[in-house]
Amino acid sequence: MSTFAVTRTLPSDATSAALRADVVEGLGSDPKHLHPKWFYDARGSELFEDITRLPEYYPTRAERGILIGRAAEIAAASGARTLVELGSGSSEKTRHLIEALTNLDAYVPVDVSESALTQAGHVLLADHPGLNVHALIADFQHGLQLPDTPGPRLIAFLGGTIGNLLPEERAGFLRALRDLMSPGDALLLGTDLVKDERTLVAAYDDSAGVTAAFNKNVLFVLNRELGADFDPEDFDHVAAWDADREWIEMRLRARRPVTAKIPAVDLAVTFRPGEEMRTEVSAKFRREGVRDELAAAGLTLEHWWTDDADRFALSLSAPSA
Ligand code: SAH
Ligand code: AVI
Repeated sequence: MSTFAVTRTLPSDATSAALRADVVEGLGSDPKHLHPKWFYDARGSELFEDITRLPEYYPTRAERGILIGRAAEIAAASGARTLVELGSGSSEKTRHLIEALTNLDAYVPVDVSESALTQAGHVLLADHPGLNVHALIADFQHGLQLPDTPGPRLIAFLGGTIGNLLPEERAGFLRALRDLMSPGDALLLGTDLVKDERTLVAAYDDSAGVTAAFNKNVLFVLNRELGADFDPEDFDHVAAWDADREWIEMRLRARRPVTAKIPAVDLAVTFRPGEEMRTEVSAKFRREGVRDELAAAGLTLEHWWTDDADRFALSLSAPSA
């Protein structure tokens, strides 16, 4: 018999308080910026799923290929009874792990998007009778607490979402994750790899305009949640490769002078024509960088798998002795 529980570890008003605080800080800064987690309301989660099917957006297909090829090896190395997945979204690729982990008792998807968690939970239960799903509506960057499920645990963080954290955020996040892990637990981390600029920019500026709609969705979130009056037509989608920092930066660029009121924070924000607001970084990695960041957090890189074209990597690491 399977079970499905949903736990909200965020206080009910935490999301709006955090959004207000981020908006005051980020839109009050020069240059302006917002945290990418605010993309993911129900519409943003759907748009992300559309992105994963675009011809230009290779990371999902590349990572799925690695998972299909290596699931048995990952399962044998981890022997996990609990699979935790951070930023699980639709959990679509995860089924390859769930099928390979023969001793699995519990699947713990963690996401800020309640709609993504409930939809994924229903699909998973239909496909895997006997699986216990304990979904957590939580921010994986702040005070993450895991339910008391049987060990060992495999913590999966797929899709390259770690690249959406700034380097200093990644260091704190990995250290906190290490502190949650017990001996025998393992971290399965998906990282997109550095490659030619054309491929990278096309993946974040697709010809159908889906990524542009995803980027502008954050303005709809601000309008709905904070009573703001942004007109998404006032902004252009920008995707640029920063070769020094090795990350793609998504921005919204004002097409004309813009003044937007944000009543919930008592703010009127102005943009000069051409002024840009950063909405996401998506860092791209190299093997040594991943190894060093893991080591700094007390994790030892034990396996590194890439797809045939070396576009994306999955790594398995464990708490250092
Ligand atoms: N892992 C899936 C989805 C990636 S999209 C895949 O590989 O396809 C990124 C997911 O992380 C979204 O579902 C988003 O809601 C979630 N997310 C982003 N920031 C988060 C945070 N701080 N805490 C929890 N979930 C977050
Ligand atoms: C979720 N994350 C890994 C995606 C990425 O590629 O950085 C989000 C995304 N942004 C634009 N397209 C996809």
